[in-house]
Amino acid sequence: NVRPDRAIRGTILRFRHDPFQGPPDEALLVEQDGLIAIADGKIQQVGPYSILHETLPADTAIDDHRGCLIGPGFIDAHVHFPQLRVIASYGEQLLTWLNRYVFPEEARFSDPDYAATIAREFLDALLRAGTTTAAVYCTVHPQSVEAFFQESTRRNTRMIAGKVLMDRNAPDNLRDTAQTGYDQSLALLRRWHGKGRQLYAVTPRFAPTSTPEQLDLAGTLLDAAPDVFMQTHLLETRAEEEWVRALFPDRRGYLDVYAHAGLVRPRAIFGHAVHMTEHDRHQCHDAGCGIAHCPGSNQFLGSGRFDLAAAMRADRPLRVAFGSDIGAGDNISMLRVANDGYKVAQGRGVSLHPAQAYWLATTGASHALYLDHLVGRIAPGLEADLCVLDPAASPMTAQRCARAETTDELLFALMMLGDERNVRATYVAGQPVERATA
Ligand code: GUN
Ligand code: ZN
Repeated sequence: NVRPDRAIRGTILRFRHDPFQGPPDEALLVEQDGLIAIADGKIQQVGPYSILHETLPADTAIDDHRGCLIGPGFIDAHVHFPQLRVIASYGEQLLTWLNRYVFPEEARFSDPDYAATIAREFLDALLRAGTTTAAVYCTVHPQSVEAFFQESTRRNTRMIAGKVLMDRNAPDNLRDTAQTGYDQSLALLRRWHGKGRQLYAVTPRFAPTSTPEQLDLAGTLLDAAPDVFMQTHLLETRAEEEWVRALFPDRRGYLDVYAHAGLVRPRAIFGHAVHMTEHDRHQCHDAGCGIAHCPGSNQFLGSGRFDLAAAMRADRPLRVAFGSDIGAGDNISMLRVANDGYKVAQGRGVSLHPAQAYWLATTGASHALYLDHLVGRIAPGLEADLCVLDPAASPMTAQRCARAETTDELLFALMMLGDERNVRATYVAGQPVERATA
């Protein structure tokens, strides 16, 4: 056995089974006083402290997080790093919000220095919130992608990102062409996909801002590099859906626009999908594509309520993960996204169980993104990306969590009342992330 670099002690959270497929009450496997041994950035062993610590070399450094919950780092399946500074912009719904707030901000990313500054701030914010993997939209400028991957490489985080493709219905300074978008994406994916922990996603913004020709070329890129990701928006609002019908009269519906271009496939991640039909769900299930459910964003923009129960129907479950959708979402913390997810489900008469919510932000998300062999669980061989949650870190969580009788109840209280303050530590490939002291 390789000598461990460090070990981490605390209450360890794992899943016995998918809490949407089996009883959610029995889904979490809780090691009350557990130990995780880490070697070469990976998890080497997991087990009870009492047994495992005997087997480690006596001088192994142990980070003591007793009283805290140790889980995999959170995964954010849909987020826009360039929108960090337009978060909480008042008073519009999707299409006007994009024109009024988002496009002017994204135009600034032609400046590589500005892109580098925001990439740094964004990754700081993400890691402070315990999120270690995300599927990230950059802007139409290749330099925004370069800045993001450079910064992610510096921190050794496992990230998916890509250049936004947009060749119509956008301001002049934010448009590429079908050909330049293709060429730039190809160059970026050759340079970054699989380099260290970085992964590339072909990223047509959404159907209204791409010509059919650009969408077809996105499909061509995916055919040429079959393990590359694809991310876009789907069926977020009714007005957007109507616009897509008008722009693509020959297609049967919004999802069919993407299917026609060859974009409905494994490793595709569709953001929102609020207004799916049963036919859409069957198609996504059969194709094995991922859905990023962004409940905070959907409430912020008034887009609608995602039907999670329908998405998870046991005979044709979809691969669903939570997304923060910064800047339409107003919270980067996946605990806050889970809070929104609970309330959106309540609005549909369904109570999202804490184990289910936690699944959508961790293990279920890694499955949705086809990353479950790398991240999203605490198991030997997986990359040691961890999030340590401290119930005592804020007065509200402290008093309520002290009352909790089960780990499910504790986790629920943390999701309803917690935020970044409750993240005691974030580990990336086995290394604790340095925190700026505020
Ligand atoms: N649809 C197309 N672009 C965007 C975006 O930037 N944010 C959200 N929420 N929806 C979109
Ligand atoms: Zn989005």
